[in-house]
Amino acid sequence: MSEATAMPPVATRRTVDSLDAKGKTVFVRADFNVPTDDAGAITDDRRIRGALPTIEALLAKGAAVVVASHFGRPAGTGYEAGESLKPVFERLRQLLAGKAEVLFAGQVPTDDASAAAVRALRPGQVLLLENLRFEKGEKKGDAAFAGKLAAYGAAYVNDAFGASHRADASMVALPRAMHAAGKPAVAGRLLEKELRFLGAALERPQRPFVAVVGGAKVSDKLAALANLLDRVDTIVVGGAMAYTFLRAMGVATGNSLVEPEMVDKARGILHDAQARGRTILLPVDHVCGRRLEAGTETSTVVGAIPDGWMGLDIGPRSQQLFAEACRGARQVVWNGPMGAFETKPFDAGTLAVTRAVAEATRAGAVTIAGGGDTAASLDAAGLPDALTHVSTGGGASLEMLEGKRFESVDALDAA
Ligand code: 3PG
Ligand code: MG
Repeated sequence: MSEATAMPPVATRRTVDSLDAKGKTVFVRADFNVPTDDAGAITDDRRIRGALPTIEALLAKGAAVVVASHFGRPAGTGYEAGESLKPVFERLRQLLAGKAEVLFAGQVPTDDASAAAVRALRPGQVLLLENLRFEKGEKKGDAAFAGKLAAYGAAYVNDAFGASHRADASMVALPRAMHAAGKPAVAGRLLEKELRFLGAALERPQRPFVAVVGGAKVSDKLAALANLLDRVDTIVVGGAMAYTFLRAMGVATGNSLVEPEMVDKARGILHDAQARGRTILLPVDHVCGRRLEAGTETSTVVGAIPDGWMGLDIGPRSQQLFAEACRGARQVVWNGPMGAFETKPFDAGTLAVTRAVAEATRAGAVTIAGGGDTAASLDAAGLPDALTHVSTGGGASLEMLEGKRFESVDALDAA
């Protein structure tokens, strides 16, 4: 069993509603760590759009808004053109066009140019700072760096759900510095919404509660599976992690990706589930390839996978089985793809589950998906808004499924 304690309900944190922001500068920590293509263009701007309700609420209150985020994983030794928030600035400016003037200043968040831009900022304006991780203090959780950021605002708003499992300076040391200075540190609208949806789904689930878990590795999802077993009726397992489970059951997996060191753990989860009367649904057939590449020879295999073949997606019978489980649910929480989704034709299983979860939503189920892959599969299925809630957090939503508590949320003012 996990030793983690449950997340504090978001109702126990102060929110932007409680802020008197008129004429004041408010510091918003957002998670603008958006996916980009090789040319640096943003491929999914959900995280930027997700922060707009908070920014607009503050503007409506008459505030000047400073927004800061990390982006990628730069060295922490200063400005790097390839990790600049410039593309995010352009998108934010488009999204707020006609609503607010959006400015961008500085090479690193605490240089003179940034500090001067903060001082010059007027109510109704938004200033985006450069990548927080350009300064080494951010990843280190450094109090001195956080102190400089704290001086930028009369209040702090955490709206960075996607980074809320991190203890970076702007996430934990900064709200503490605000607290020490007698300034408010509150939850933004997106953070509120994410904690509310995921928190309620885990603490007060609608039943039947079906969790759909996929992705390559059991090791990444082990803690989530253990925590979910306490709460769900059924866990549907897809993706390459299913092959480790099948190996644990003595089913031949051919050349499929298996984590040999996780086979015993997988067997333990299967036993646990049985002992507690939970169902774990595994794929019963597979779309196999010779190797993971577009154009590889494929074969649909029921049961044992022969040598020379690797399972790369769930097969049609499994699609049906998984879809039925989703359609019968009153609540679905989904994390991770069912197959090698980026490579056709191995996206079919994930798309089938996407459609089934969308159908469950239309029939009244609460459906929540987390993780960048899942959002991409919704877009690919042409169903971007078909679920009750699509989380902007990958790692953060997974840690919530694990039952972890976030220091960054604990550091906000109690309501
Ligand atoms: C994410 O994309 O998962 C968050 O923005 C956190 O980023 P990180 O994994 O680099 O800390
Ligand atoms: Mg990440």
